[in-house]
Amino acid sequence: SPELLELDNGRIRARISNVGAAVTSLLVPDKNGVLADVVLGFDSLDPYLNGTSPYFGCIVGRVANRIKDGKFTLNGVQYSLGINNPPNTLHGGFKGFDKVIWEVTEYNKGKTPSITLKYYSKDGEEGFPGDVSVTARYSLPSSMELKLEMEAAPLNKATPISLAQHTYWNLAGHDSGDVLAHSIQIRGSQITPVDQISIPTGEFMQVSGTPFDFLTEGEIGDRIGQVPGGYDHNYVLDDSREVKSGLRHVAKVTDPSSFRVLNIWGDAPGVQFYTGNFLAGIVGKGGAVYGKHAGLCLETQGFPNAVNQPNFPSVIVHPGEKYMHTMLFEFSTK
Ligand SMILES: *[C@@H]1O[C@H](CO)[C@@H](O)[C@H](O)[C@H]1NC(C)=O
Repeated sequence: SPELLELDNGRIRARISNVGAAVTSLLVPDKNGVLADVVLGFDSLDPYLNGTSPYFGCIVGRVANRIKDGKFTLNGVQYSLGINNPPNTLHGGFKGFDKVIWEVTEYNKGKTPSITLKYYSKDGEEGFPGDVSVTARYSLPSSMELKLEMEAAPLNKATPISLAQHTYWNLAGHDSGDVLAHSIQIRGSQITPVDQISIPTGEFMQVSGTPFDFLTEGEIGDRIGQVPGGYDHNYVLDDSREVKSGLRHVAKVTDPSSFRVLNIWGDAPGVQFYTGNFLAGIVGKGGAVYGKHAGLCLETQGFPNAVNQPNFPSVIVHPGEKYMHTMLFEFSTK
């Protein structure tokens, strides 16, 4: 049954649900030690289960982002998936990993608390081939860090696997308005441009000289008006990045009002930068109304539609192999 569990190390406090392995709240101190909840979410678990949540805080899979026309061919077999975002499949289909109940297999409340969740995805679920065993472990490895380690193993057939964590961040507090005054640095020199139905064309575009250039920290709102609809793009992460605990620097987000800073580290090849363009007054925690750009997502991931795009890094995993994807959310103050 739906549950909420807490990870608390005395500095930061996370609430994690077994519904979609979602982070539903995360309290983080500002410069003066004042806590605010920096993620968008709901008080009740119903919206996470019934499809009205815009993927707040959850893990999406079996394949994050879009698959063109909900189709792909693997080992000579064509697979047809649930078309939940016509004409495409989005975030695993109608009932992706975000809308299922995961099993809590470990819950440790010590000094470095952690929770491990498991999900068993069956052969044919949303049209995907083969059984897959999935594990997600959230932990607070140090006073100001939240870590997520995801693993998945196909048990009998080769299948695409590409998971992502879909938290909407607002470092000023989830109920503080939009994030356009936040500044961001994204460690990718290229994006994968998309067509009119949000499917990558297969090209790579240099960000230099465009509104997508966040190689050096810049305000999100500065050039968002030049991007029709707002940012919702996959960045190709550069090889030449700083490394911490074996993970490369993905992005840095700074809120100028609270001085909270979030650095994200990870090991996936891409990151989707999404500015909550489709939020339109949804009522969240404590009655907060989340309007357009009320939060931003940085979803480390395999490239969108990679399963149909041979020049993108493969997301196919074979029985005997293991998919692994780790990210570290490191908080500080300026
Ligand atoms: C989903 O749950 C929320 C909260 O209980 C409720 O307001 C909403 O009407 C539900 N939507 C559907 C489609 O069931």
